Amino acid sequence: MSKLLITKPIDAILAEAEGQGANTLKRALGPVNLIMLGIGAIIGTGIFVLTGQAAAMHAGPAIVISFVLAGIGCAFAGLCYTEFASLIPIAGSAYTYGYATLGEIFAWIIGWDLILEYAFGAATVASGWSGYFVSLLRDLGIQLPPQWTATPGTEMVFYAGRWSALATVRPALQAAGVDPATLPHAVAHFNLVACLAIAVVTVVLVIGVRESANLNSAMVAIKLTVVFIFIGLATAFVLKHPDVAARNWHPFLPPNTGQFGAFGWSGVARGAAVIFFAYIGFDAVSTSAQEARNPQKDMPIGIIGSLLICTVLYIIVAGLLTAIVPYTSLNVADPVAVGVDAIGIHWGSVLVDAGVVAGLASVMLVMLYGQSRVLYSMSRDGLLPRWASAVHPRFRTPWITSIVVGVFAATFASVLTIGDLASLVNIGTLLAFVIVCLGVWVLRVRRPDLKRPFKTPLVPLVPILGAAISLGMMASLPRTTWIRLLVWLVIGLCIYFGYGRRHSVVQATARSGALADIVRTEP
Ligand code: ALA
Repeated sequence: MSKLLITKPIDAILAEAEGQGANTLKRALGPVNLIMLGIGAIIGTGIFVLTGQAAAMHAGPAIVISFVLAGIGCAFAGLCYTEFASLIPIAGSAYTYGYATLGEIFAWIIGWDLILEYAFGAATVASGWSGYFVSLLRDLGIQLPPQWTATPGTEMVFYAGRWSALATVRPALQAAGVDPATLPHAVAHFNLVACLAIAVVTVVLVIGVRESANLNSAMVAIKLTVVFIFIGLATAFVLKHPDVAARNWHPFLPPNTGQFGAFGWSGVARGAAVIFFAYIGFDAVSTSAQEARNPQKDMPIGIIGSLLICTVLYIIVAGLLTAIVPYTSLNVADPVAVGVDAIGIHWGSVLVDAGVVAGLASVMLVMLYGQSRVLYSMSRDGLLPRWASAVHPRFRTPWITSIVVGVFAATFASVLTIGDLASLVNIGTLLAFVIVCLGVWVLRVRRPDLKRPFKTPLVPLVPILGAAISLGMMASLPRTTWIRLLVWLVIGLCIYFGYGRRHSVVQATARSGALADIVRTEP
């Protein structure tokens, strides 16, 4: 048992972070790159898609409060991530923090769990991206064969000039009195568009972190422009038509329908759990700690800065969106474009579509980036085979891992539905948040002596609140998601006991006695 709980000595981790040489990552990222990396990961499907759906089905205009609540929960977790990222500036993020504090078995569980966040997260976004991309092409007069644009077996129908999944257009068909059997049909083979999106992002990641960071900054700039254009247009509209805004915002908190999560305060809570997805990604900044030029100073700026900017933008966008369009009409795939259309500016919706296509691409980029860095760290620790940490001699990137992760993510994206993927991503991420929050507290107790360039305020209150809010959101997820999480963790434990435990560098070093002194000084 004690072997399972062996911790990786912080001093050894710090020495590793200082390492130079051919098999180490390149320190190329400054504070602006890190904030961009954060925004690149955060702003995406959540704000562009889920805001509208959560407002329409759960919270109404009070979705603004949901954003505030989820933002507060993420801020607590973000402060904990920041303490770790500045203290242990190494690529593995929550995995490494777990190894230093709670022990190897917990580290493995977090590392394995992070696959749910990053690889499945990239797959989720790729799946959403494909929808926007197909619609943008359609705007430009190009119609892709429907068989290659959805998950296997999805029944597609041609209606109102476009191919759509029958399940999503059924209500509209019923309302229009159209019999689906009279429409042209197709059955999807798999989502080739999503698969290709992941392939392109993977190639960019293999080529190099500086190139990836530059491309990411360009895409972030495009998506921020779209957000600001929306804010500008919507604000002008609200100022010109305050009566419309007042009508749409009334009632601000629609009364509960009698069902938990359908409006009222329970709807606000459910809304927060849904749009939590919009905040996922700030933690990805911490996976780049080993490539930051000055991690101690820049990690807090990158994590807190990107989270703060996005929280403010989210609250403004959610408020304006529900002011310009009745919340009941926002349950669509592109609510922000629908909002711009409602203002009467039709070029705006094409622009929004184009911006979202660019924006979601940067989310995929950061997620896949984070995933390959976590696996890199696990492999350096011997818990995964050596090839997973091989760094390309010229590009200095963990190229084999990047390609393997790309193949997995592309497969998930092309065969699983967005809903299944997203719920797994949420539960996996929240579990990592819980462990990181508790880890900060544990390390404060066990190693009060360590120099912490950034200290989470009010420990243990902030970590406890961060963990409690995350657990609360996990509890609101469906049982099937919990079962999937457990199955995933059992598969992971089989791999750990079959491979990782026997190849662990920390265990081997402790056995050989080389680190015995350090290990023994760990309480
Ligand atoms: N926060 C990211 C998004 O909204 C994952 O797409």
